[in-house]
Amino acid sequence: MRIGLLTGGGDCPGLNAAIRAVVRVAQDSGDQVLGFRHGWRGVVEGESTPLTTQQTKGILQSGGTILRTARYHPYEHEGATEAVRATFERERLDCFVVLGGDGTLGAAALLAETGVRIVGIPKTIDNDVLGTERCIGFATAVATAAEAVDRVHTTGESHDRLMVVEVMGRSTGWLAVFSGIAAGADAICIPEQTTSLDSLSAAFRSRHEAGSTSSVVVVAEGAAIAGAEDDAGGTKGAIVARGLERRTGFEVRLTILGHVQRGGEPTALDRLLATAFGVAAIDAVHDGCTATLLAAIGEETVRVPLGKVRPGRRPVPPSMLALAKRMSVPREVPQALGCRAP
Ligand code: F6P
Repeated sequence: MRIGLLTGGGDCPGLNAAIRAVVRVAQDSGDQVLGFRHGWRGVVEGESTPLTTQQTKGILQSGGTILRTARYHPYEHEGATEAVRATFERERLDCFVVLGGDGTLGAAALLAETGVRIVGIPKTIDNDVLGTERCIGFATAVATAAEAVDRVHTTGESHDRLMVVEVMGRSTGWLAVFSGIAAGADAICIPEQTTSLDSLSAAFRSRHEAGSTSSVVVVAEGAAIAGAEDDAGGTKGAIVARGLERRTGFEVRLTILGHVQRGGEPTALDRLLATAFGVAAIDAVHDGCTATLLAAIGEETVRVPLGKVRPGRRPVPPSMLALAKRMSVPREVPQALGCRAP
């Protein structure tokens, strides 16, 4: 069989581990893998290279993607979907294996409806692809962000400061919640639930009146923040930092982690997940699957319809929100204690 392989959207640790597994298992079965550079754009422009086990040796541990990637959606470019189909036929491909987040896989789902055979693998540090419980890259990003929050904790304590750390997550708070709990953040602000700057400030004043001298807040880059009218402008982390400083009078510092969270070597768990997905992708191709998403459900890798990714993003489940809440500053307490309104 001839299999086209691509990585699209934002990169993440673990992509190379998946590429390695796909190529190795495919070659062992007598298949050929054609790697397309720069995601769907490379498919449209015919930017491809044959991949062999020899070429993909030693990449299990490396960050990024040897295939490169791009934020390119074929449905947003005239003639691009026809070009995808033309490449599929010209290269005599039997199937595409597509590693992507909701954008890349959303395009894959639409293309699959038009008859292009596609098996999808979910990857994004945001962990918010619908249909799967885990995406490649998330475990590593959580570890990276948690370590950064740990470091911010110690300098915050030394200076008696309120430290704000902004992590990635435009639409969901997976990374904020997981890294925040793991690193003992005192509050976590996410897109799924609105945080009021007034009540957060009151909670921190109350916490500091009770003896704490420093605190840490983790803010997702797409966090829903209320009461920020006077503080408009800048990133969500900046809005929270400014809002808390004005309302509490504490010294506040902001750290934006940015692309540090997407870089570097994958953790062992991400390597494992990526390897399982890569092997399962070739099995799915051999079984004649199409419009199929590989999903991690518990310890299993299962096949679900690729169309499942399309309605949007998977929010953080209530159980994790409840855990985060129980480990955060009690925002309802200040009023009960009769604290002065900020
Ligand atoms: O795709 C995941 C993500 O990491 C988001 O959390 C973040 O908003 C975005 O990528 C940043 O993308 P870019 O690297 O294109 O600026």
